Amino acid sequence: MLSASEDIFRYRSSSKKDKIMQKSITRNGFGLRFAILISLAVLISTLLFFDYSTFLHDPNNIFTFLLTKQENTLTILSDKTSLSNKIPDSDPCTGRYIYIQELPSRFNYDFIKNCDALIDGSDRQPNICPFLENYGFGLEVENSKGAMSNSSWYCTHQFTLEVIFHNRMKNYKCLTNDSSLASAIFVPFYAGLDISRFMFGNLNETVKDSLGRDLAKWLSRKREWKQMWGRDHFLVSGRIAWSYRRKIDNMSQWGSNFRLLPESMNMSMLAVEASSWKNDYAIPYPTPFHPSKDNEILLWQRKIRRHKRPYLFTFTGAPRPQLDDSLRGKIISHCLGSRFCKFLDCSQEDNCYNPIKFMNVFQSCVFCLQPPGDSHTRKSIFDSILAGCIPVFFDPASAYRQYLWHLPENGTKYSVYIPVRRVEEWNPNVENILRGFSEHEVLAMRKEVIKLIPRIIYADPRSKLMLEDAFDIAVKGMLERIERVREVIRNGSDPSVGFGEEDLDKFTF
Ligand SMILES: *[C@@H]1O[C@H](CO)[C@@H](O)[C@H](O)[C@H]1NC(C)=O
Ligand SMILES: *[C@@H]1O[C@H](CO)[C@@H](O)[C@H](O)[C@H]1NC(C)=O
Ligand SMILES: *[C@@H]1O[C@H](CO)[C@@H](O)[C@H](O)[C@H]1NC(C)=O
Ligand SMILES: *[C@@H]1O[C@H](CO)[C@@H](O)[C@H](O)[C@H]1NC(C)=O
Ligand SMILES: *[C@@H]1O[C@H](CO)[C@@H](O)[C@H](O)[C@H]1NC(C)=O
Ligand SMILES: *[C@@H]1O[C@H](CO)[C@@H](O)[C@H](O)[C@H]1NC(C)=O
Ligand SMILES: *[C@@H]1O[C@H](CO)[C@@H](O)[C@H](O)[C@H]1NC(C)=O
Repeated sequence: MLSASEDIFRYRSSSKKDKIMQKSITRNGFGLRFAILISLAVLISTLLFFDYSTFLHDPNNIFTFLLTKQENTLTILSDKTSLSNKIPDSDPCTGRYIYIQELPSRFNYDFIKNCDALIDGSDRQPNICPFLENYGFGLEVENSKGAMSNSSWYCTHQFTLEVIFHNRMKNYKCLTNDSSLASAIFVPFYAGLDISRFMFGNLNETVKDSLGRDLAKWLSRKREWKQMWGRDHFLVSGRIAWSYRRKIDNMSQWGSNFRLLPESMNMSMLAVEASSWKNDYAIPYPTPFHPSKDNEILLWQRKIRRHKRPYLFTFTGAPRPQLDDSLRGKIISHCLGSRFCKFLDCSQEDNCYNPIKFMNVFQSCVFCLQPPGDSHTRKSIFDSILAGCIPVFFDPASAYRQYLWHLPENGTKYSVYIPVRRVEEWNPNVENILRGFSEHEVLAMRKEVIKLIPRIIYADPRSKLMLEDAFDIAVKGMLERIERVREVIRNGSDPSVGFGEEDLDKFTF
């Protein structure tokens, strides 16, 4: 039981995922508490570690602020680009300023205040506080026994991204405390921690939805809202975006209706897995590697490039005894039946908590199987890329149609796709398919995978890397998206068209 819920939290998340999660939660009560606790812990650490003043804007730009502000008052729907054009080109932050909306602590920091009262869901952790340490990275891995580089490795939980992202944002180089100058408004609401609070209880919708509704009201009354009716606002969620799109009001249904509120329709959300709505965007799950120097990344890439890979492939995850006929069940039996496959059972010991254990497996394998779990995506996709292991996908919604900003458009370059039409009839010989790739093809794919590493990691917020990391790419993608909306407004068109609608083709291939 414990191990099953552990794996759920470690390696899975989605609407279906959440349903399964809920079942396992009802059975053992561990999983939910675990997730809640973790989220809370992350939040607390965020609070404790920030020195806000160091992140504020360079006072040299005060003139620019004033100039922009003055002009801005003349335009109702402010056009940041044209304003920016009047800012001297020497300002590298032109068009990239972000304002962090200062929320009352009930929307974020309060969640993590009492992390020590929250248990993690396994016997191994008394509470989730450790996962909130170090900006949400979790505890540092102390003795890596040569498995990894010497520093910058942490026991990072799969659902703490909202805390990690907030901490990175506080250190973003183009922050402004003048919202009228900002190209985007970041809303540091810990949405995943919010819904995590209710995982164990069959609470009514009024209770489950109340904080999200409260936030929507609060935001829409702020001066910043009027600039673009929220279309320059964005949030980040450490849980999958489906969790906030609960359509049915049923006490036993997982999640909230936060993203279905009218205010939410005007805002964007970045999450570890996107839903099929157009204003949800997927960004990578956090991996255990959070370097603070470019050189650490380069050394890691070099190490992983040369690593011996005695196994052809691995499946790392927990069995679902109740789902023997699932794709996962079939993949596990296939793996167990092949002497070229390494199965790492997430239901055993701390196999999938301890980065030393799972990174050792991923870096010893050529291919890493990534079947969907309870939802389309898995944290393990990014851990395996970090280990230079070529991902094998079975569902276009696992990565190809999700991480459009972070992963190459041409999936063939860095991964293998084995389509599944009907799981009941699905019985390909995965081993033979993978053995069919020539040495040359494998090397070319691995080269691409290793090249992706900087793009899928979240660097230490105290550092400034030259390389673009997952945070930088996400921010860039969001700013471009908002800029396009501004252009629509400038053109006199209706910005609501194509903004927050459901796109039923989003995950078709
Ligand atoms: C905004 O930032 C500027 C520059 O750092 C600073 O001088 C000013 O006091 C700040 N204003 C507020 C309201 O925090
Ligand atoms: C890690 O530490 C060991 C022992 O202190 C040292 O020999 C090695 O060079 C270090 N490796 C890296 C990548 O810094
Ligand atoms: C929901 O639960 C709260 C607290 O238990 C209660 O006060 C409220 O009346 C309930 N609302 C509905 C619609 O059942
Ligand atoms: C609510 O969910 C429970 C359990 O899934 C189900 O038995 C019940 O019929 C649902 N009620 C409604 C009104 O959908
Ligand atoms: C969303 O934006 C539209 C303008 O595109 C505006 O009319 C509407 O009031 C906004 N919704 C909210 C809740 O502010
Ligand atoms: C995708 O990449 C593969 C392998 O490099 C290549 O053969 C193929 O032509 C590419 N497809 C497109 C559409 O660029
Ligand atoms: C705005 O109008 C210009 C000129 O008509 C057009 O080229 C551009 O594509 C439009 N932009 C958007 C986002 O609609």
